Amino acid sequence: MEVIIKTDKEELSKEAAQIVKAALQRKPNLVLGLATGSTPVGTYQELIRMHKEEGLDFSKVVTFNLDEYVGLPPSHEQSYNYFMYDNLFNHINVNPQNIHIPNGVVPDLDAHCEWYERQIQKAGGIDIQILGIGSDGHIAFNEPGASLASRTHVEGLAESTIKDNARFFEREEDVPRFAITMGVATILEARHCILLANGENKADAVAKCVEGPITSQITSSALQMHPKATIIIDEPAASKLERRKHYKWVYENKRKLYSAQ
Ligand code: GLP
Repeated sequence: MEVIIKTDKEELSKEAAQIVKAALQRKPNLVLGLATGSTPVGTYQELIRMHKEEGLDFSKVVTFNLDEYVGLPPSHEQSYNYFMYDNLFNHINVNPQNIHIPNGVVPDLDAHCEWYERQIQKAGGIDIQILGIGSDGHIAFNEPGASLASRTHVEGLAESTIKDNARFFEREEDVPRFAITMGVATILEARHCILLANGENKADAVAKCVEGPITSQITSSALQMHPKATIIIDEPAASKLERRKHYKWVYENKRKLYSAQ
């Protein structure tokens, strides 16, 4: 795992957007896995800026979102579908036909999950997967106990996640109890996983993800098995990492090493 510690959310957002930009310039038909939540919003704003000011072209990009609440139609203001259009898709030149987000109101959820997996395969797999992390250490909606071999499936939300996400709804009772989520194994197949986290409330989860044992109780810890996982976090989110000085040293010196070549 590569751990990149930035001073604040703005800096980590820029770092993540730069990685996406470089990949997009190398491969215009990049398959981009996207996440919702407050964490990646700064990265999306930076990508929008790059599109508007630097002409970064998304016309051939194919996107796959990680998850969606079961029971919320795409038009619902708290659906992840709505979130993605509002925070990114409406502001860049992505082709709507290339956008994939699980649909939480289909009659056959399991068939839909299988279909979603097939779409990822058909697209040739995900090149870069952006991830956030839940305060319980989850990635996408893979809650503690979700199989590390899981594919796209329906997951029951943990009590802590319902509480965390209640801030977006009028009442806690309104938070959906189930979600469709890419599985841990689906996520691990992405060629490059980039996990973002900011704020002290993520420090515990980040420490378990990076330095704890690999366990289905902290599904993000499965990223330790990934050949190319980049963890981009701010100082407060890094505060409980025992080896944070080492990660910083490696980051600084690796740059020097490569630029000297
Ligand atoms: C939800 C999403 C996750 C996201 C997490 C953290 O549970 N399913 O993909 O990482 O929220 O959200 P935030 O970035 O708002 O802290």
